[in-house]
Amino acid sequence: MTTSTVSRLIRAQRAVEGDGFVVRRPFPTPALSHLDPFLLFDHMGPMQFEPGKGVGTPWHPHRGFETVTYLLEGDMEHQDSLGNRGALRSGDTQWMTAARGVLHKEGPSPASQAAGGRVHGLQLWVNLPARMKMDPPAYQDLQAESNARRIEPGATIRVIAGTLFHLQGPGRTHTPIAYAHVTLDAGHSVRTALPAGQRALLYPMTGAVRIGETQVDEGIMAELAGDELSFEGVAERSEVILLSGEPIGEPVARYGPFVMNTEAELRQAFQDFDHGKFGVPLD
Ligand code: FE2
Repeated sequence: MTTSTVSRLIRAQRAVEGDGFVVRRPFPTPALSHLDPFLLFDHMGPMQFEPGKGVGTPWHPHRGFETVTYLLEGDMEHQDSLGNRGALRSGDTQWMTAARGVLHKEGPSPASQAAGGRVHGLQLWVNLPARMKMDPPAYQDLQAESNARRIEPGATIRVIAGTLFHLQGPGRTHTPIAYAHVTLDAGHSVRTALPAGQRALLYPMTGAVRIGETQVDEGIMAELAGDELSFEGVAERSEVILLSGEPIGEPVARYGPFVMNTEAELRQAFQDFDHGKFGVPLD
């Protein structure tokens, strides 16, 4: 075992998504297209919206990967062209395997749109290997209660997928992925083994943590080296995401909502979308 250190720091850039949703995005940016097997990391909020002013993303397609939405705070609804419909509240995860193609939309629930509300969450795109990109789409609704969870002095650990902190999360993944959320008070630290052979990323959504001598502030992503991670809260309260995933090691051809291996497959995705092969909006 080697003690984990920070091998690089990636500052999130601001981007606008959907109907005007401002996100903080460590990648993709012009400088960093992806961190295999992860294709996109969007930090939404935290923000408060006035009644009638909540924004979401209207109907749009995906092919070739998975979108994973985790909500720390808020009340969202999502719907897809397979007929899946669900609500997402604090601690819930929507794990959508777009694979060969699906249309979806997401936004504030009617109740929070009427009353105004808060949004704080994360959307992650996880790549699929070539052999799975054209599989049938699938969907997992992982409610907060199903997360593996442990409370330690000054820390609450939740694992959504894979194994971290000796906890195994409920999410089914197509390649080895681990996903955890740790709430950490100042001066307290947590420790976990990191899965061997995987890329590990840590991102404070609020607050700041220290890994060895390196401080990682809110809105900055740390890529980690080593397989024995310990981090300490240095803000009053920090909400920290820890991700790990086995690199797929294949060429990535991407454009907007499609991520394939070749340009020809991307052109095919646009053609299939134009011919209605991703299904139809349901309202
Ligand atoms: Fe989407």
